[in-house]
Amino acid sequence: MKIKGLHARLTLIFILAATLIFTVASLVILLEVHYHFKMFQMDAPNFRAIQPLTLHFERAVLGSILWTSVGVFLLVCFLSYIVAKKLSKPLVNMRKVAEEMAKGDLKTRVKTQGHDELQELGLSLNELASQLENQEIARQNMTSDIAHELRTPLATLKSHIEAIEDGIFEATPERLHSFGEEIERLISLVEDLEQLTTFEAPGFVLEKEQEDLGNVIQQSLNPIKESYVQKGVMLSSSNADIQLPLDKKRMMQVFINLLSNALKFTPAGGTVTVATKKLDSKAQIIITDTGIGISDEEAQKVFERFYRTEKSRNRRYGGSGIGLAIAKQLVEAHEGRIWIESVPEKGTAVYITLPLS
Ligand SMILES: Nc1ncnc2c1ncn2[C@@H]1O[C@H](COP(=O)(O)OP(=O)(O)OP(=O)(O)O)[C@@H](O)[C@H]1O
Ligand SMILES: [Mg+2]
Repeated sequence: MKIKGLHARLTLIFILAATLIFTVASLVILLEVHYHFKMFQMDAPNFRAIQPLTLHFERAVLGSILWTSVGVFLLVCFLSYIVAKKLSKPLVNMRKVAEEMAKGDLKTRVKTQGHDELQELGLSLNELASQLENQEIARQNMTSDIAHELRTPLATLKSHIEAIEDGIFEATPERLHSFGEEIERLISLVEDLEQLTTFEAPGFVLEKEQEDLGNVIQQSLNPIKESYVQKGVMLSSSNADIQLPLDKKRMMQVFINLLSNALKFTPAGGTVTVATKKLDSKAQIIITDTGIGISDEEAQKVFERFYRTEKSRNRRYGGSGIGLAIAKQLVEAHEGRIWIESVPEKGTAVYITLPLS
């Protein structure tokens, strides 16, 4: 017969253990009594009543063992049932919670009690549930954000093309050019999203090599220098001699992202500086601009996907708010940290720290 359920199995184990202990104890009592009466017979051979006394005494012992067995068995069954139920209850609850989670109810939680391994298991399960819940919320937000980001430009393109078809607009080279730009923006949004997914995937690994930080920064400035000149924003850099392991291609991507933000949000005549320094076991990179700045509250949020400050939305700077999310992902993949300190209307400083080894 196969016993199903932890509760039933525990009850059976308790009953078997109690029965075994009781049987051994009974046998020992019987054998001891028997042995001592035999000794008494030898010590007092003239005591005539010894035979019937032994017989009655052994029967009395046997009888009491029998009745006690019945009582003990019933008591053990009852207690085993109660103890097994108490022990298995948290595990049964956890199984129910896990089943509900598997069905998609991620709000469900285990009620934890005590301070033992079962309580720790319950806490771990609750932690897992809240992580899954957060991921699910992030997934839903991301889907709706992507839909929102794609819908507006696609709807604009569609209405303009329809207007051209209906003869309301003329297909001038400027109009076609602006369509092209809008399509470019959509393509780069999709590419950014693809990259972000790649960097977030568990299998993503950096290709780190020992690099000269100043060299990596100089190479990042090259592709963007020209746009600084065109906009009339001064770009300068001062680099300490720092060698550290990093994935050059990915780190250049971070710097280019930050430098293009600094350029985008700094009006003509402003300045952007890149500085590096050594701090104990870390290297620090600071990119400072004299641009429009970000409020303290918004500085926390700009690293979230699709987040753009009110100001940058209103003034139509372009961009979809993914650049900093990518930068954060890459810096953290290097076991570094990135944060922003900014004063609205004065400027912004982006700080990055990277481990030297
Ligand atoms: N140097 C800066 N000065 C002022 N605001 C900034 C600066 N850098 C970033 N921000 C704010 O943070 C937001 C998010 O930046 P992020 O680089 O992620 O997106 P984006 O530049 O708008 O778009 P993308 O980089 O995807 O093209 C920006 O929209 C802007 O509001
Ligand atoms: Mg950006």
